[in-house]
Amino acid sequence: MLRVVLGVTGGISAYKATGIIRSLTEAGHQVKVIPTSNALRFIGAATLEALSHNSVDPDLYSDVAEVKHVQLGQEADLVIVAPATANFLARYAAGIADDLLGTTLLATKAPVVVAPAMHTEMWQHPSTVRNVATLRERGVVVLEPDTGRLTGADSGPGRLPEPEAIVATALATVEAQSRNLKNLQRLSGKRILISAGGTHEPIDAVRYIGNSSSGKQGIALAQVAASAGAIVTLVGANLPVKPSGVGEYLHVATAQEMADIISQRLPSCDALIMAAAVSDYRVEDSSPLKLKKSNLGDRTTLTLVANPDILATSVERIGNSGLSCLTVGFAAETPASTEELEDLAARKLARKGCDILVANDVSGGGVFGSDRTSVVILSSSGETARFSGSKIEASSAILNSLASLMS
Ligand code: CTP
Repeated sequence: MLRVVLGVTGGISAYKATGIIRSLTEAGHQVKVIPTSNALRFIGAATLEALSHNSVDPDLYSDVAEVKHVQLGQEADLVIVAPATANFLARYAAGIADDLLGTTLLATKAPVVVAPAMHTEMWQHPSTVRNVATLRERGVVVLEPDTGRLTGADSGPGRLPEPEAIVATALATVEAQSRNLKNLQRLSGKRILISAGGTHEPIDAVRYIGNSSSGKQGIALAQVAASAGAIVTLVGANLPVKPSGVGEYLHVATAQEMADIISQRLPSCDALIMAAAVSDYRVEDSSPLKLKKSNLGDRTTLTLVANPDILATSVERIGNSGLSCLTVGFAAETPASTEELEDLAARKLARKGCDILVANDVSGGGVFGSDRTSVVILSSSGETARFSGSKIEASSAILNSLASLMS
């Protein structure tokens, strides 16, 4: 059970704080909400009290005898601020402490996770950019806002990430700090290209060859990398919903579409993480029309041709052109034992020539669609790390290994 302080500032998405409180309390955590006075223009204190099962009193000068202005920060295991306005970011970066949220933030040594939400112009304004950079330099985790419809007719980056994404990243931050994964800080400002999901190779207008990948591991990697300050592009193959809290998101369907985007973006990347399950083959003559059983008969044959191996060709290109991009490959295997899994992983690391290979045992299919996983992380520097836990936590472990190879 964690003691969580949730700061809510004055933006239209303040109502989404209810989802954050729900998700934290349902996971057994204790939540103390500190709204700013402007937040209370958007959401009522009664709602926040009822959902958090805790009193809500944002007044700095009530219960002075309890020294509340520092007590809440001192006792917290985690502080989340969501939504965080441009005004809040400026005040926090400057260390202004003239309200309860401000004093709490200066008094805490707990991890702080901030989820900004504002109009695109405000998010991209040089003063906000500078304030976010200052906070990240101090170790504050500042999530990238989602891109989409904003309050008016406009759309762009500035939407509050979904409550589940905020909570998952915040809990992973606590977990990473407790395991002292200090290398993660090196990801700040690095450009990371991540693939996720499973490609679909069309047979005809309605049918395809696919696989069981849910994309959860790749999405988790993108969320954790973005929260560490990396500039993330997630290339998602057929993800069921648009992922939240991941930075730039590009949708693809086929292996060839994924290969084209990754080839285009590779020269400007510091790391490529191939978490996607890419089909090794595609149908040679897929039909733009629906194939009819009456024409195919009782027996029919599909001719498959090899797709490009995106990871292997990227590694080759990096080697030939002197690009300084690290590469991470994945291996989903069905081994008879842990020893065999590590042996297969070591051989795949050598064959693909990547810097890190993450192997997991998918026997029985249980890992697909699950929030939990068990992985072996092999590094070309010879290190091996093993991790079991949530896919978000596994992402911290994988990214920590990657960051250790970054200068
Ligand atoms: N991969 C890729 N392009 C492909 C196929 C796979 O980039 N056309 C990437 C995957 O994203 C993953 C890694 O390569 O990171 C391992 O893929 P896998 O299919 O397990 O490796 P294979 O070389 O195909 O080996 P296997 O014999 O086990 O199928």
